[in-house]
Amino acid sequence: MEDLTGKTAWVTGSARGIGRALAIALAQRGCRVAVHFRRSQTQAQKVAARIDAVGGESLLLQSDLVDPDQVRDNLETIRKEWRRLDILINNAGDYLRRPIERVTPEVFHRYSRGALEPAVNTSLLALPLMRKRHWGRIINLGYIFADRLVGNPNVAAYHVGKTGLLAFTYSLARRAAKWGITVNMLSPGMNENTVNRPRNPEEFVPAGRLSKHRDLENAVMFLLRDESEMITGTHMKVSGGLWV
Ligand SMILES: NC(=O)c1ccc[n+]([C@@H]2O[C@H](COP(=O)([O-])OP(=O)(O)OC[C@H]3O[C@@H](n4cnc5c(N)ncnc54)[C@H](OP(=O)(O)O)[C@@H]3O)[C@@H](O)[C@H]2O)c1
Repeated sequence: MEDLTGKTAWVTGSARGIGRALAIALAQRGCRVAVHFRRSQTQAQKVAARIDAVGGESLLLQSDLVDPDQVRDNLETIRKEWRRLDILINNAGDYLRRPIERVTPEVFHRYSRGALEPAVNTSLLALPLMRKRHWGRIINLGYIFADRLVGNPNVAAYHVGKTGLLAFTYSLARRAAKWGITVNMLSPGMNENTVNRPRNPEEFVPAGRLSKHRDLENAVMFLLRDESEMITGTHMKVSGGLWV
C-alpha cells in the first residue's frame, strides 16, 4: 500500500459514493483528508469520524463549490489548519438524466455549470497553495464520453459540463506541469453506485462487471505516485472497456 504520510488531500463531495470511498482510501494510507459536503452533513460527519477512529486526521468542510467565495473560505481553512495542499480530488458533481426537450434553460445551466465549475473553482484557487511545495496532484472525476463530440440528448447538460471540464483539465495540465503539478481526468464507466445500473452488467460491460470503488482507488493511487509525475493531461477511463 502507498504511504501518503505527511500529505494532505481535499476530496470534494466526499460524504457519499465515490468521494467517500476515495477519502477513506487516502486516510488509510496516512494522508490527512478534508472531507467535504454541500448538504449531506450527517454522512460527511460519519466519514470524518471513521477516519479519526482509525488514527487518521480529517477536516470537515462545507460549501457549494459553484460559488468561488465559498471555495475561498474552504481553502483558507485548509491553509490555516495544514499550511499545505498536495492532492485535490474534484469528485463533486450532480448528474441529470432527462430528455433535452424537457430541460428548461435554467435547469440546463444549473447542471452544466454543476459539472464544470466546482472543479474549476477549486483548482484555480488551490494553485497558489499547491505551487508552494512544487508537488501537486489534481484529479478530476469525469465521464467517459467527455472526449467524444457526440450527441447525448438524455444527459446533455452533464455532457456539456464534463466536456468543458476535460478541456480545462488539458489546459491546466499544460501550464501546471512546470510547477510539479499533474492534472488528469479519471472517468468511471458505470460504477457500483451508478444510478443507471443495467439489468445484465455481465453482458453490458466488456469486462463483465461494473467498476468498483476499489478500481477507482487503484487508478488514483497510481496517479499520486512520485513516479507518475510525467503523466499529466490524460483522460484515464476505468470502465472495463465500456463505450471505449
Ligand atoms: N457513479 C458513477 O457510476 C459515475 C459514472 C461516471 C462519472 N461519475 C462521476 O464521479 C463523481 C462521483 O460520482 P458519484 O456517483 O459517487 O456521486 P454522488 O453519489 O452523486 O455524490 C456526488 C457528491 O457531490 C456533491 N456535490 C455535487 N455538486 C456540488 C456542489 N456544487 N458543491 C458541493 N458539493 C457538490 C454532493 O454533495 P451533497 O450530497 O453534500 O450535496 C454529493 O455528495 C461525479 O463527478 C460523477 O459525475 C460517476
